[in-house]
Amino acid sequence: MQIFKEKEALKSTLEGLRSDGKIIGLVPTMGALHEGHFSLVKRAALECDRVVVSIFVNPTQFDNPEDLEKYPRTLEKDLELLQQAEENLIVFVPTANELYGQAVVSEHFNFGGLEKVMEGRYRNGHFDGVGTVIKLLFETIRPHKAFFGEKDFQQLQIIRKLSENLQLPVEIVGCPILREDSGLARSSRNERLSEQHREKAAFIYQTLLKSRELFGTKSAEYITQWVKEQFKNHPFLKLEYFEIANTKTLQTINHKTKGNQYRAFIAAYAGDVRLIDNMPLNN
Ligand code: PAF
Repeated sequence: MQIFKEKEALKSTLEGLRSDGKIIGLVPTMGALHEGHFSLVKRAALECDRVVVSIFVNPTQFDNPEDLEKYPRTLEKDLELLQQAEENLIVFVPTANELYGQAVVSEHFNFGGLEKVMEGRYRNGHFDGVGTVIKLLFETIRPHKAFFGEKDFQQLQIIRKLSENLQLPVEIVGCPILREDSGLARSSRNERLSEQHREKAAFIYQTLLKSRELFGTKSAEYITQWVKEQFKNHPFLKLEYFEIANTKTLQTINHKTKGNQYRAFIAAYAGDVRLIDNMPLNN
C-alpha cells in the first residue's frame, strides 16, 4: 500500500500508471471506514487495475461546525483496515490546504435543481462543498472510474451531473447500500449512536420497506402523511424529511406516471446523530 499526502507525488505516480495503460479507480471517502466503504473498494479493485482511496474530511460540505468537529476521525485504524482489505492500494490523505490551496472555500455550482431539494434544502451549501472537493479530487487523480454508494443517492446523481457538466472522462459507478443486520444503512455516523439509538434506528429502514409496499396501491401523498404519522410520537427518532421523488430529477411527485422510476428518501435524527437512507419504490 502506498500512502500519499502530496498532490504532486501522487499525480506523477498516477501519470506513470496511466501511460502504462492501467485503468485507475477512485473511491473518495471521509474516513471512519466501514463495510460500506470496503464494498466500494472491492468493486473498484474488480473493475480497475489500481485503486486510489482518498481519506479527507471535507470542511466545505459541513454547514454545521459542530457536525464537522464531531465527525469521526480514525485514520490509523482506517489505514490498517485498508491494508488488510486489498493489495496494492494507493491512499491519498491530503490536508485541506494541500488539496484546496490557501483558500479552503467552495465553488458555486448549478446542478439543474438536483442540489435544491432534500439534503440541499436542509444543509446549506452542502453540495457546493461536495462538488468542489470531488472536482479537486478528479482533477488531481484523473480516474477512469469513480465509485460512490447509493446511500447518498442525491450526492451520486449530483456527481454524475458534475462530471457531465465538466465533461470529465470519468465513469461514475453507483454501488448498492450496505446494511447492518437490523437493516440500518451502514454509515460512519452509526459509530456515534448509543446502543439504544442504533437499535431503534432500524425503524428508518422498516418505514422505507413499508412505503415500498404501500406504493403499489397508495398515492405518494398518502404514504408521505403515513410516514409523518409514524414518526410523530416516536420516542427516539425525529423525522427531518420524507419524500417520494423521481429517481432522475429528484423532484417530489404528486402523481405516479407510467415508465418513471421513483425512490423514497428519508432523513431523521437519532439523538443528535443525523441519518439518511433511501430505497427504490418501483423498477
Ligand atoms: O460521501 C462522502 O463520504 C463524501 O461526501 C465524499 C463523496 C467523500 C466527498 O467528501
